[in-house]
Amino acid sequence: MTLKHTTMEADIDRILISRQQISQRLDEMAREIAAVYPLKGEGLVVVPILAGALIFVADLIRRLPMRTQIGLLLVSSYSGTSGSEPRILFAPGSQIRGRDVLIVDDILDSGRTLQAVKVDLCRHEPASLRSCVLLRKPGKAPPEAGADFVGFDIEDVFVVGYGLDFNSYYRNWPDIAVLRPELYR
Ligand code: XMP
Repeated sequence: MTLKHTTMEADIDRILISRQQISQRLDEMAREIAAVYPLKGEGLVVVPILAGALIFVADLIRRLPMRTQIGLLLVSSYSGTSGSEPRILFAPGSQIRGRDVLIVDDILDSGRTLQAVKVDLCRHEPASLRSCVLLRKPGKAPPEAGADFVGFDIEDVFVVGYGLDFNSYYRNWPDIAVLRPELYR
């Protein structure tokens, strides 16, 4: 990547989902989530998958009306012989036992990450375990790796912005965007 002499804006090919569309959809998603859980009592443990879900979770939880705690979870993907396998580096443990848990991720692609996280969190016997993703590439994840709440279905392109990165850059771009193809080469 030759980034020295260009701006971030110059790297963006097109905006797929604007910041206004995201904000509007988050209002709706918060209502969908609030309709499922009780408003009273201990509330939710929200588990964002870092780092991609950082910005999404910050905006989402501020729209939720019930008590909410956060249990951070860190996943790394490494390349094995059968492709990229997620590895859970850090996750909530006994904190989630008997609690309503909502996993939050930026994008559901092959479903490997979400499935691995579900299996790991299930070991601690939460009262309920649901998942919420901002983006989904339809038809790619198996049913068991599906999400309960989905922001947008998108075409099968690599996207950045609003927490999603390329080489750890572009997480701070406020829209969901596609980069100029020459940057991937
Ligand atoms: P899987 O395939 O496990 O992917 O469902 C989930 C994780 O992979 C990353 N990912 C992407 N990151 N643009 C990105 O910036 C993309 O188009 C994309 N697709 C997958 C992401 O970290 C996600 O949590």
